[in-house]
Amino acid sequence: MSELDAPTPQVYDFRKPALRGRGRIHELTRPVFFVGFMGAGKTSTARKLARSAGVTAIDMDTYIERRCDMKIKQIFAELGEKGFRAIETDMLEELALGEPRLISCGGGIVLAERNRQILKEHGFVIYLMVTAAEAASRISDVSTRPLFGNLEQAQRVIEGRLPLYEEVADIAIDTAGRGSGSIAREAQRCLQEAGILR
Ligand code: S3P
Repeated sequence: MSELDAPTPQVYDFRKPALRGRGRIHELTRPVFFVGFMGAGKTSTARKLARSAGVTAIDMDTYIERRCDMKIKQIFAELGEKGFRAIETDMLEELALGEPRLISCGGGIVLAERNRQILKEHGFVIYLMVTAAEAASRISDVSTRPLFGNLEQAQRVIEGRLPLYEEVADIAIDTAGRGSGSIAREAQRCLQEAGILR
């Protein structure tokens, strides 16, 4: 077969129809994990970035809900936090070894040492910083987050997790007073500079 007959590799453009065909489709050299407390904007930032860069984004909680055919709230009620964390680690392993994507993680992903190892070994980690008050204002229904509690509790949890988020983070982005578009643009710049998004 001559070079001219060789099949052209197909790259699917994941962006909204209006944006398809515009700009360059990028690729990720390794999985990119968004970590940070609930309400930091991990899911919406990953989605925005996926659209503008033409790469795939996946939300871990949604992935878990689909795989288990149960809502997160229901998993906590039936299997407890321990059961949920065990599932979370299995799914993280699966996603970390799969094709490179933007992966928004649940806020507690950094709690298990095994998870922190996986994140550091296989991924590039973006830590989105948020305060408890701002997180609460961004979450429309806190009842879907069994561990959010009240503002004081949330603040304590954020402080307790801070060293763990910092341990895994390749970069940290302050989300205070910003929308997901601006955060996504900063993340894209950092990923390009680090050679993770090409
Ligand atoms: C959790 C955060 C939630 C979800 C679960 C536990 C946590 O995800 O995984 O309720 O321990 O912080 P989001 O951070 O996406 O809300």
